[in-house]
Parts: sequence; structure tokens; C-alpha cells
Amino acid sequence: MNTDHSATVRREFQHLFSPFQIGRREVKNRIVSTAHAPGFDSGLLNKRHVDYLERKAAGGAGLIMAFGSASVYKYSSASYGSVSLWDPENEQLLEDLADKVHAHGGLIMSQATHMGRRGDSSISGRPLQAPSAISEGIHRETPHVLRIDEIPPIIDAFADAAARLERCGWDGIEITSFSGHLIEQFWSPAINKRTDRYGGDLTGRMRFSEEVIEAVAEAVSDDFIIGFRMTGDPVTDDLGLDQDDMLEIAKRLDRLGHIDLFHISGGNAATYAAQSAVVPGDTFARSTYNHAAHRMKENLSAPVLVAGRILDPEQAEDALVNDDCDLVGMTRAIIADPELPQKTMEGELSQIRPCNACTEGCIGRLYMGMPIICTVNPAIGDSSLENFEPADYMRRILIVGGGPAGMEAARVAAARGHDVMIWERGDQLGGQMTAAVTAPERPHYGRHIEWLKRELERLNVDVQLKTTMTPDSLIELDPDKVVLATGSYPDILAAAGDVTTRCVTDIAILDQAVSIEKGDRVMVYDREGKFRGASIANFAATAGASQVELVTPLWSVCEDLDAMQKPELYRLLAENQVVLSPNQQLAGQKDGHLLLNDVWSGNERLVDEADLVVFVGYQTAEDALYEQVKQADPQLDVQMIGDAIAPRRLSDAISEGVRIGNTL
Ligand SMILES: Cc1cc2nc3c(=O)[nH]c(=O)nc-3n(C[C@H](O)[C@H](O)[C@H](O)COP(=O)(O)O)c2cc1C
Ligand code: SF4
Repeated sequence: MNTDHSATVRREFQHLFSPFQIGRREVKNRIVSTAHAPGFDSGLLNKRHVDYLERKAAGGAGLIMAFGSASVYKYSSASYGSVSLWDPENEQLLEDLADKVHAHGGLIMSQATHMGRRGDSSISGRPLQAPSAISEGIHRETPHVLRIDEIPPIIDAFADAAARLERCGWDGIEITSFSGHLIEQFWSPAINKRTDRYGGDLTGRMRFSEEVIEAVAEAVSDDFIIGFRMTGDPVTDDLGLDQDDMLEIAKRLDRLGHIDLFHISGGNAATYAAQSAVVPGDTFARSTYNHAAHRMKENLSAPVLVAGRILDPEQAEDALVNDDCDLVGMTRAIIADPELPQKTMEGELSQIRPCNACTEGCIGRLYMGMPIICTVNPAIGDSSLENFEPADYMRRILIVGGGPAGMEAARVAAARGHDVMIWERGDQLGGQMTAAVTAPERPHYGRHIEWLKRELERLNVDVQLKTTMTPDSLIELDPDKVVLATGSYPDILAAAGDVTTRCVTDIAILDQAVSIEKGDRVMVYDREGKFRGASIANFAATAGASQVELVTPLWSVCEDLDAMQKPELYRLLAENQVVLSPNQQLAGQKDGHLLLNDVWSGNERLVDEADLVVFVGYQTAEDALYEQVKQADPQLDVQMIGDAIAPRRLSDAISEGVRIGNTL
């Protein structure tokens, strides 16, 4: 570390790294990892989750808002993979976790909630509970209507959870209403149709939240921080509450005098579109909810924390300078690089591994019922990829292929002390990512490749572009080990079959090898069912195609895409008037028409010949070099990674690159 340089950087980030008083406790800087459920637990907190949160504290975040949707009430339907705060069995690990975070100088608070109608009774085997029998747009399960005598035990459960956390050495609790949980359901005139003291006008609808806060305040000492999380911008009209209403609610809660920290964000879970705004993906504006937080800060006496697409330290500093907030949530940014605060402090900004805002590995997987990973940070899914042992002695490593898998392997091998060379036959690094980053819905997708390029340069990796490996060149180089990261290619012949219309792949269009002419009739045939089919259909429509039909043999368009990425793609498909044709198999051509077969009935449909058929999902492993290398030197240690083994996701390419780099 260059001390002068880091002092300058600290000046640049003087707000971000200034301590701050929350209630009676001081947090060392303004960077917060906000509550997020990683899907690691099933009620009982486990060591993996403890290590995961400790890692964030070790990386320098001032405040760790732990867990996500941690349930206070035994008889509510907990969310998938969350922690049960009501369960005394968690106490030992709660204590351990608090000790570990404190040892790194951080504060730790826990989110605490009852999710009400949000959830699925199949997870807990218990009915959902809500103010009224109105189901949520996402889960669509009719809840049990809470009788008036069933409400006080829930209020007590919030208080018990707070008392437990304080007993276990925690710094505070974050009561949450956020993203459609029970407290917010009580507030909403569209959801709460009660006629008792917990319904009716705003005073009645706020009673439950106020009683929860009063009970929590009663249960803990004045030293214990009481935080409250809510949406400042619901994004949807479905709640019957707008930004003014949320401000009014916050003001009334503030006046109770118990809340030490308001945590403001946006979105809501009443609809798919509003839910996707809760963890805003790459088409949302950066600093998505600073406007809502700013307004709250102007009107509330308690300090304000904001969360929503704050990706970089510069953006975080700006939020503080602009008085949008007092503390800054950088949740995904810290998932992608837990050392972001530390690296910022030390002036190593260019070394921060950036979140590419894909939402695919983290929240996307969670909403598909899987524990989170991070597309760009494989250590989240496999902690053995966190630390690298220095190599026992320096070897000469040749990596063939400069896509994400090869670049990651090179980065890690070089960081461990090897002499590393990449041979890439194209004229730039990035592999298929060079095409993928041109998708307009993903403006930040290329950040990881840019970071890898910087790291390869810093680590003195020798990158040779426009270099094709031949047996002779290999023998001449005489490496100790070879890694084949040659990727995959779209197999247009396999895709096109009997179709004789102009056939291309989405990659050819994104690479600008093929262009869409004004007025072209385009059919996209997507057998993959993820992001690419819908994205290229939108691309074609905006590039001037006169009509675009998106055909897939799957149940639905974007069948296997998570609920966070789908809404924006669907919105654009609708806006671009793309015709959606699921359950249709492209069977060839007949009488000058394209022939589609209905997957279920077998009925034929003839559609007017398109000018262009774009195939998505026909990647084939580029693995031919393996045999060539083996023939050239049978003794050579050769390994394959990424798509060259089998075409898969970006996260697989990255994690395989890191794994192999760590074993060379
Ligand atoms: C994997 C994941 C799970 C999340 N789970 C929760 C949750 O349980 N409760 C909650 O209040 N927010 C949850 N969030 C939202 C985050 O707290 C935060 O508001 C959001 O990620 C936006 O901040 P960012 O842009 O800094 O990531 C989750 C976010 C992610 C990425
Ligand atoms: S999975 Fe994607 S959005 Fe989530 S933290 Fe990692 S890079 Fe960011």
C-alpha cells in the first residue's frame, strides 16, 4: 500500500469513512451490508452463514445488517432458507456471530419480521397470516385472517426477538415492513380491510406497527439500536399507498421517539414488476431510491440509511455529500467484493471486483429456491475459493483462450506466483462476454471483464492476442502446464436443421457479424429459455425489424429465467410488440413457409417466411484442441475448464477458472 496515495483517497471519501452515531452506539464508517437472505439456513443459523457475515465485517463494512426476513414468530410461514429468531437454539451462534463482527470493529443488527401473506405455506406447513384474506400477487395463496386475539402474541414475538438479540450481545434490531411484509400489509388500505382497531383509517392501520415498536422499545435497554426498514417508493399503485403516504407513515413512527435508524429503499412484493424493483437490476437507475431517502432525511429526526444500486464508493460518497442519507447500503457491491471498504480505504479502487448488477447469482437464485452464489465472486458459493496458497514453485503456465474462465485461471495462477501466459485467437479478451455486454438491458455486465483485464495487467500476465495454438508453437513454448479455456461456439448447422432461410445466432448479431435490416421480419427461436432469447428479440425490434416473433418449445418465454430479470424483459417485449409463441417447435419449412408444430397437439402452423431466423441455445463445446495437445506431448499436464468442457453459465466459467488457477 502506498500511504500517501491512501491518505488522498481517504480524503476523497471522507464522508464515507467518518464515524457516525446510531442511537447510543458509534459505527466506524457509513458502509452497510443490508439485510439479505442467502438461503443458507432452515430456521437454524449455521456456521456457513456466520462465516459469510463475518467475512463482510473483516472486509471493513461498518454495519452488518444480518439475515433477511428473519422470522420472529413460530407460527408464521418463514421464508425459504431464513433464520428463526424465535428459536432459542440459535442463541449460541448468535453470540458467536456478534463476537466475531465486533472483533473486526463492526456493528451487527438483525432484521426481524413476520412476512404475513408473503410466502408459501408449503415451506413451514403453516397457513399464511394476514390482516385480510387477500392473497399476494406473487405467491397467490389465500392467507388466514388474523383474529384480534392472534395479534398480541405476534407483537410480543417481536419484543422477545429483540430481547434475545440484546442478550446475545447484538447491537440492534431492524424491524421490517419492507417489500410487502406483515407490517406493510396492515398499512395498506388495499390489503387491510379490517373493521376492528387494526384497520380503517391510517391511525387504525398503523396501530399494529406502533404497538410492535413500543413493545420492542420496552423489551430492550436504551443502548440497543432500534432500526426500522420500509419502502419510501412502493413503485406500484397496488398498495393504495404512494410516496407521500410512506412519508406520512415514517413521520408518525418517528414521532414515537424510539426509532434510531430508518432504512429506506423501494419496491414492493405486490406484483412481479414491483418485486423486481426491491433488488433493482441493471435497467434501473443507479442510486435508485436516493430520492425517497433524501425526502425522508429532510423530514425525520432519526438518521436514514438508503439501499438500492449503489455500486461504487464514489456513488456512496456522493449520496452522503448530497445529504440523501447518513448511511449507505452497498449490499450487492459487498457480495461481489467483501473487501470493498478496505480496498477503498487503502486507495486500491481499481482492484475492487465490481458487481455487474446481473441479479442472477444472488437474488435470482434465491427466488428459484437455491442458496445464493455470486456470478463474479465464486467464494460465496464455495469458501475454498476464498484464499489462495502461494505456489510451491513457479511454473510456466499456458492458458489457451481469453474468455472469463481463462482470464480467471490466469489471474489466480499469477497471484499465486506462476509465470502465466494467455493465448487468445481473437483480437480482444473476454470471449463470449464481448458479445453479451452489448445487450442493452445489461449496461454494467462488462465490468467484471474490465476488472479482469486490469488485474491481469497488474499481475504481469503475458497476453498474446490473435494467437492460435498449434502443436509446433506449443512444443516451442514448452510450458509446465496447459489449461484449455477455449469456450464454445454456436452450432448453426445443428440449429438450423432443414430451415433454409437466412439462419444466424444471437451472438452473430451482437458481434455485428450480421445486421438487422430495416423492415426485416425476424423469428427468434429460443430453446434455452433464459435471458438471451428475449433480449435478442428486443434488440431486433429496436434495430428496425418490422415484425419479431419469439418462438420457444418451452412452457413460456424466458421459462428458466428468475423472477427478478423477467419483468423488465417482458415489459420490453410488450413495448416492442414482439409476438410471443411458447409451446411451438420449429420443425422446418413447408410450401415456402416456416413450419411450427404445437408441442402438445402436434398441430402444424405455417408462418410467413422470415428474412432472418435467430437461433438461441445451440452452444457446442470447443474441445478439439485437447486431443491435439495430447498428441503433440502426451506427458503434458493439460486441463480443460468452462464451456470447453460443457457450455454453461458465466458463473460456472468464473468459478472453474478460479478453482483451476488455485490448483496449478
Ligand atoms: C440475495 C438477496 C436477498 C435479499 N433479501 C432481503 C431480505 O430478506 N430482506 C430485505 O429487507 N431485503 C433483502 N434484500 C434487499 C437488500 O437488502 C437491498 O435492499 C437490495 O439488494 C438493494 O441494495 P443493493 O443495490 O446495494 O444490493 C435482498 C437482496 C439480495 C441481493
Ligand atoms: S450475483 Fe450479480 S448482482 Fe448479485 S452480487 Fe454478484 S454480480 Fe452482483
